[in-house]
Amino acid sequence: MKYIIFILFATISILYAAEPIDPIPQQLIYNLKKAKIGKNLFFDTILAKDRTISCSSCHDINHGGDDGKKVSDGVFSRKTDLNSPTVLNSIFNFKQFWNGRANTIQEQIDMTLHTKDELDMTKEMVISRINENIKYKKLFKEAYNNQKISYDMVIDSIFEYQKTLITPDSKFDRYLRGEISLSKDEEEGYTLFKKFGCIACHNGKNIGGNSFQQLGVMVKSVNCDGDVYSTTKKDIDKCLYKVPTLRNILLTKPYFHDGSAKNIHDAIKTMGYNNLGIEIENKNIEKIIKFFETLNGELSKDIK
Ligand code: HEC
Ligand code: HEC
Repeated sequence: MKYIIFILFATISILYAAEPIDPIPQQLIYNLKKAKIGKNLFFDTILAKDRTISCSSCHDINHGGDDGKKVSDGVFSRKTDLNSPTVLNSIFNFKQFWNGRANTIQEQIDMTLHTKDELDMTKEMVISRINENIKYKKLFKEAYNNQKISYDMVIDSIFEYQKTLITPDSKFDRYLRGEISLSKDEEEGYTLFKKFGCIACHNGKNIGGNSFQQLGVMVKSVNCDGDVYSTTKKDIDKCLYKVPTLRNILLTKPYFHDGSAKNIHDAIKTMGYNNLGIEIENKNIEKIIKFFETLNGELSKDIK
């Protein structure tokens, strides 16, 4: 009997380890007082040069973590060059931004604050506005035990908040943990996702977010704005992007760095054609969408 149980466990753990996708952790450790400040800042127009928008304008955490637009509306009615990616689970990405030019979340926040068509702030502006604000003076004093609020503290608090923006317990993660099974269509969709080779690029905890890959591996694509090449100027980096996460993917249309795919059907078709060199039949696209439905997670309990 013991032997059978051992075999059973060994088989289960091998099967589990063999899955190319891992569940995301149910919670990350973070500092509550600091994260609360970060949350306040995330929703506050104080961080925008013209005080009209906040992080939340382009990253609505209750609707997939993006803004549902092709490109976003920044300060002074400027448009961003690229589609807003989700902020949810971005903590698990190996780098930040479509072309991964930020190595850490802290670098990402710093760059976001400075970007002209997003918040367009200077370091000095951030420091003086936050230090003049009575609410933030009090909150930062409680969390950081400081007299003066530094730029790094502002970034650190938003970083702590971003640790809470994860979506564990999706149906698929519960399936991976062996708690439930998938429906026939969902299971078939997942099998096709692996069989077609989507999994070669979209894998790991975030079903993406862990490598750079070419857009248009098989058939070159038209638009490669904002690719890795745009910062490195090395030919080899042309059309190279960080593979985006597919968690909560059904909530974040339109798709791709330029928002060129209006819906998920078009995005899957394009991926099949440009990146795998295949025409995916409609009925199989529908099955992959069924699998994608299982990737919607639960936003961690709101911090008050
Ligand atoms: C005007 C819209 C806008 C605002 C405001 C904005 N963002 Fe973004 N965000 C974007 C766009 C567009 C990108 C993609 C830029 C790129 O890749 O070059 C992005 C990228 C990101 C990413 C990277 C995600 C990934 O997977 O690469 C994170 C994280 C993020 N923003 C968080 C924030 C935070 C935190 C704030 C507030 C301090 C903020 N954003 C404010 C539009 C916005
Ligand atoms: C060779 C690597 C590779 C393969 C194979 C691949 N993808 Fe992608 N996928 C990417 C990259 C890179 C992007 C980002 C491209 C862009 O935005 O310009 C992407 C983007 C996406 C997006 C849009 C994500 C968003 O947030 O906008 C979806 C959906 C997607 N892929 C699904 C699939 C499916 C389904 C398959 C299999 C049919 C697949 N991918 C195969 C690399 C790959």
